[in-house]
Amino acid sequence: MGTALFVEEKGSDPSVALREVSAAELPEGDVLVSVEWSSLNYKDALALTGRSPIIRGAFPFIPGIDLAGVVLESKDPRFASGDRVLQTGWGLGETRFGGYATLARLKSEHLVAVPDALSNRDAMIIGTAGFTAMLACQALLDVGTADGPVVVTGASGGVGSFSIALLKRLGFEVVASTGSGDPGYLERLGARDIITRQELGQGATRPLDSARWGGAVDSVGGPTLEALISQVGVRGSIAACGLAGGSSIATTVFPFILRGVSLLGIDSNTCPTDLRVAAWGRLAALADRDLLDLLVTETDLAGLRDEASRLLAGKKRGRTVVKCQA
Ligand SMILES: NC(=O)c1ccc[n+]([C@@H]2O[C@H](COP(=O)([O-])OP(=O)(O)OC[C@H]3O[C@@H](n4cnc5c(N)ncnc54)[C@H](OP(=O)(O)O)[C@@H]3O)[C@@H](O)[C@H]2O)c1
Repeated sequence: MGTALFVEEKGSDPSVALREVSAAELPEGDVLVSVEWSSLNYKDALALTGRSPIIRGAFPFIPGIDLAGVVLESKDPRFASGDRVLQTGWGLGETRFGGYATLARLKSEHLVAVPDALSNRDAMIIGTAGFTAMLACQALLDVGTADGPVVVTGASGGVGSFSIALLKRLGFEVVASTGSGDPGYLERLGARDIITRQELGQGATRPLDSARWGGAVDSVGGPTLEALISQVGVRGSIAACGLAGGSSIATTVFPFILRGVSLLGIDSNTCPTDLRVAAWGRLAALADRDLLDLLVTETDLAGLRDEASRLLAGKKRGRTVVKCQA
C-alpha cells in the first residue's frame, strides 16, 4: 500500500486529494518502484489546477511527469531490487499514473539509471526541466550558433534557469530575458546581461531585424519566438521548448532562406533512450552542488496544489522538488 495525490475529476479547479493507493490500482508494468522524489513542472501545475487538459488518462488520476526512486521488484533483468532509477516523460503523469505517489509501476524501457554522481533528489532538482534544457543546449551545439550571445527566455523558470547555467558551463555568453526574475539570481546562474520580457514579447518588428543573437533557448513561444526568429544571426539556431507566453507564431521564411536560421524543436517526452542516457550523463557532469542548491525549493505531496498555483502566478523561480515519502 502507498500514498498518492489524486486529481479527482476533469475540468478547471478539480479537487485534489492525498489518499492510499494499492499496488493493484497501479497500471501494468514490469518494474515496481518506491518513489522517493518528484518535481513540479509547468505541465504539472496545469494538471493540478485543471488550467489545461494535460491529463489524458481516466480520473481519478495521479499526476507528476517526473519521478526518481528505488526498484522494489523487477521482471526485467536489466533492473534489480535496490537500483536507483528515474523516469521523465513517456506520458508519465499525462496518460499513465505519475510521480506524485510513494509507489509506481512502470515500464522498464522508460527507465534511466540515476547517474552515480547524482542523488535521487538531485535528479529531481534537474527533472524534466533540466533534461529539456540539456536537450536544447545539445541541439544548439549540434547545429551550431552564429556570432553573439545566446538568449534564454522565461529565464527564471525551470527550463530557463537550467539553460542559463548549462550554456554558461558550455562556454556560451548568455543573456537572460525575464518578466519577474531577480537579477542577482540570474547572474549567479551565469547570465552576463538581462533584458526585460517586453523587449522580445512585442514580436518581430520586421521579417529580418538586426542580427542580435547567436542563438536562443525559448520556453515562452508566441510573439517572443517570432522576435527571436527575426533577430538570430547568420546560421544561428533557436531551440523551441515551450509556450509559457503563447502557442501560435506568425513568421516569414526570410530568416530561414536568407540567414540559414534553424528552428529546432525540443521534445523531452518522446526522446529516445540512448539520447536520454547521454543527456543525463552530461547533466551529472555539468550540474554541480552550488547550482542545484541555488535552484531548489522543496515541498511535499500535501503542499503541491498551492505550489502549482504559485508557479502559474509567476511567484516561483528555479525548481521545486517534491518529497514523496513521509
Ligand atoms: N519541449 C519540452 O519537452 C518541454 C519540457 C519542459 C517544459 N516545456 C515547456 O517549457 C515552458 C517552461 O516550463 P518550465 O517547467 O520551465 O516552467 P516554469 O518554471 O513555470 O517557467 C516558465 C517561465 O516563463 C516565464 N513566463 C511565465 N509566464 C509567462 C508569460 N505569460 N509570458 C512570458 N513569459 C512567461 C517566467 O519566467 P520569467 O519570470 O523569468 O520571465 C516563468 O518562470 C512551458 O511552456 C513548458 O510546457 C517543454
